[in-house]
Amino acid sequence: MEIILQETAAEASVIAAKIIARLVREKPNAVLGLATGSTPLGLYRELIRLHQEEGLDFSQVTTFNLDEYIGVAGDHPCSYRLFMMENLFSGLNLPASQIHIPDGLAEDIPAHCEAYEEAIRAAGGIDLQVLGIGSDGHLGFNEPTSSLASRTRIKTLTEETRQDNARFFERVADVPHHCITMGMGTILESRVCLMLAFGANKAAAVSQAIEGPVSAMMPASALQLHPRVHVLLDAEASTKLTRKDYYQYVYDNKPTWQRY
Ligand code: F6R
Repeated sequence: MEIILQETAAEASVIAAKIIARLVREKPNAVLGLATGSTPLGLYRELIRLHQEEGLDFSQVTTFNLDEYIGVAGDHPCSYRLFMMENLFSGLNLPASQIHIPDGLAEDIPAHCEAYEEAIRAAGGIDLQVLGIGSDGHLGFNEPTSSLASRTRIKTLTEETRQDNARFFERVADVPHHCITMGMGTILESRVCLMLAFGANKAAAVSQAIEGPVSAMMPASALQLHPRVHVLLDAEASTKLTRKDYYQYVYDNKPTWQRY
């Protein structure tokens, strides 16, 4: 696991965008796994800038989003589909047919989840998965006690997650209780994981995920089992890490060819 410590979310987001840009330049038909929420907003802004100002080409890229609320239509202001359209896809040259987001209105949810897994397989698997972390340690919406081998499926959101996400809705009561999320097993099959975490309310989850035991109680800790993970943190999210000096030392001494 590579831990990259930056002062601000903006600086970390630029590095995350460089990692994705390098992949897309090397493999123009890369398959990207994407997340929603506040965390990747700076990354998405930078990807749009790289496309519009530096010609980074997304025309052959395929994307799969991690999750979507159940019962929320794709054009609902709080849907993750609309979020992605507004904050990323509208600024890129990515054909709509190459965008995949779970359908919160699917009639047969288990069949939809199976088809989602099949579509990921058919695309050749995810090359790089962008991840945020919940204050309770979730990845996607794999809440604590989620099986670390789970696949795309329905999950019930914790009250903590509903409260955290209430800022996007008019009232807490409007936040759905259920979602469709890629499973931990699905996420761990991505060839590379890129987790971003910003702000003081992520510090405890970040330290447990990186330095604590691997446990379904802290789903993000399963990233310790993955061979290629980059974690990008701002100063506030890294305050509870005990090995910060080592992470910084590793980063400062990266061979030139490994730098971003
Ligand atoms: C969203 C997702 C979630 C968020 C997490 C952090 O697609 O998968 O795991 O990444 O809840 O949310 P923010 O970034 O809003 O703090």
